[in-house]
Amino acid sequence: MLTPLRPPSLDRRELRLRYLGNRNRSAELFALLDPSVYYERPIALRHPIVFYEGHLPAFSFLKLVREALGRERVDADLERLFERGIDPASLTDAGRHARATWPERRRVQAFGASCDAAVLQALAGAPIDDAALSPLLERAQAAFTILEHEEMHHETLLYMMHRVPLSKKRTRGRSGAFVEREPLATGRVAIPAGIATLGARRDAIAFGWDNEFEESAVSVGAFEIDVNDVTNGEWLEFVRAGGPVPSFWVERDGGYRLLGMFEEMPLPLTWPAYVTSAQARTYAAWRGARLPTEAEYHRAAFGTPDGAERAFPWGDEPPTAKHGNFDFRRFDPEPVGINAAGASAFGVYDLIGNGWEWTSTEFAPLPGFVPMASYPQYSADFFDGQHFIVKGASPVTNRNHVRRSFRNWYRAEYPYVYATFRTVNG
Ligand SMILES: [Fe+2]
Repeated sequence: MLTPLRPPSLDRRELRLRYLGNRNRSAELFALLDPSVYYERPIALRHPIVFYEGHLPAFSFLKLVREALGRERVDADLERLFERGIDPASLTDAGRHARATWPERRRVQAFGASCDAAVLQALAGAPIDDAALSPLLERAQAAFTILEHEEMHHETLLYMMHRVPLSKKRTRGRSGAFVEREPLATGRVAIPAGIATLGARRDAIAFGWDNEFEESAVSVGAFEIDVNDVTNGEWLEFVRAGGPVPSFWVERDGGYRLLGMFEEMPLPLTWPAYVTSAQARTYAAWRGARLPTEAEYHRAAFGTPDGAERAFPWGDEPPTAKHGNFDFRRFDPEPVGINAAGASAFGVYDLIGNGWEWTSTEFAPLPGFVPMASYPQYSADFFDGQHFIVKGASPVTNRNHVRRSFRNWYRAEYPYVYATFRTVNG
């Protein structure tokens, strides 16, 4: 059982500071790129960079100010243009979203400033938690939606920017990510049969996305799990046996190097391998194993030998830098198994941080799912059998999203994301 967090009292100052902090981080991320790539698509299946600079403030404005509070428009054309991103299944589908022209950057930024002003004004004084006015305002849902939306986009932006050629990034002073270290433990641990609690009670957390509700208890059989994520060194053995090469690896002179965020470096053999779900499954099968289910991840992460469940792998203490590689401590991974303070009760490392963890569980609603008023398509559009649940966090996942019920998901073959895995048997 999770101890209910603070009651949902509205701290407007905190919400405004969080919004401003997010806007600053967005500006810092856009500033990492050479302006010449502003209209380019680093990932063919996504919009160009310009879209994201408009989308972040547009979404916040549309959700909170327009839809929830019913206030005036700031620019009907740009609001429509920047309303929503894309996740097409193919390049042909992506072509349907292509546009010949995008607005000038100055116009995008001026539009963003208008959206920000309206959002900040609303956070300061509008009835943003008055459920009688709109279901989007229940427990300040729209306000939290826009904050978490922008925070999630920081990660999306970074894995897109990862694909921008290094010559087009402001890399100066940002190299030196390479580090190798041996893990504190290796091998596997046995997790006994027990109960995993997925999701959360609506009154137990200040905010959650619709796919986090309702709380549901799942009975899980005994299994064995790797204490560490599969490393590049282990994946290299797989490549030598005929396995696929991860998209973050670069072939040079018959060997492999790693493409980091700001530099290409010798392949760090002790770092987690970032691969697709399809690749991870192939590897697991090659080892005579499989990927954990979402419920098995929960058992390994939050379960304890005495049967109680924790809020976080390390206990109930709120997440901080010592617990793992998340919340922008680094832009790149670090060696697996070196954060003793973040290990779970069963001695499993890096369950939060250093890369999302692939599960074999298809993204689907928990029992009692209801699409959220402030963003009804958020999850429902992806219950299609093509997306799989990842748990945990990557180096660039905001600490606000480190909560037990948080569920993220990616397309099985999407090669750009910061996702790793471990294997299980049982
Ligand atoms: Fe978005």
